[in-house]
Amino acid sequence: MRKKIVAGNWKMNLGYEEGVSLFSEIVNMVRDEKKGDQQAVICAPFIHLNSLVQLGNSIVAIGAQNCHQNESGAYTGEISAKMISSVGAEYVIVGHSERRQYFSEDNQLLAAKTVVALENGLTPIFCIGETLDERNNGSYFDVLKTQLEEGIFNVSTGQFSKLVIAYEPVWAIGTGLTATSEQAQEVHAFIRQQIAAKYDAAVAENTTILYGGSCNPKNAADLFAQPDIDGGLIGGASLKSRDFVDIVKTFNS
Ligand code: 13P
Repeated sequence: MRKKIVAGNWKMNLGYEEGVSLFSEIVNMVRDEKKGDQQAVICAPFIHLNSLVQLGNSIVAIGAQNCHQNESGAYTGEISAKMISSVGAEYVIVGHSERRQYFSEDNQLLAAKTVVALENGLTPIFCIGETLDERNNGSYFDVLKTQLEEGIFNVSTGQFSKLVIAYEPVWAIGTGLTATSEQAQEVHAFIRQQIAAKYDAAVAENTTILYGGSCNPKNAADLFAQPDIDGGLIGGASLKSRDFVDIVKTFNS
């Protein structure tokens, strides 16, 4: 049985006190909801990581939103996977479309980040997704396949089994335009086929694939009911405790 995950991505939001207070609310609300194969995760800005781990990572796991591709060294202002791991965080988002777009992160760089994250015991949540143009001109399967091949298909089977993938169509992020559950399912099934072709059917069957892009308490149930959608990567709705926890609860209803 693959793990079901609802992960919040706070992006560049919330001061220190605000983050602590939101996380405390989420932990208190999720405490009673948690089920065996299901994991809630909050991916927070670096300044929050240590405190959030202390506050309740046994109930809601903690992740970062990025890491540097090198182990350590003279990279002023950067944060390594080892540092993230050293505070007890367990996840790191790699390849979010905002990093690809605003920080020119390409598949080769993201492949290096994925490896360094895995080597330091973190679970990468590796994001792929097509733009609106790529969806409209029909090239999206090729785009997604290249993102997979160049970004994560270079790791060993053992390493791959520790990865989580998030399909986040760029046109659905922060726009209120959600992919329909049919559109998302089509892509998730395609991703699973690609994994089966590269590794094997068992690896594909065990890989958690999340959907992200304007996911909210209203549309989560429909999306998560699809056979190849194993949870969500939630932006805006993760900044409201009630909304985020309602999405987490979707698996229980
Ligand atoms: P929204 O849920 O705000 O569309 O953001 C999705 C996202 O980018 C999560 O990583």
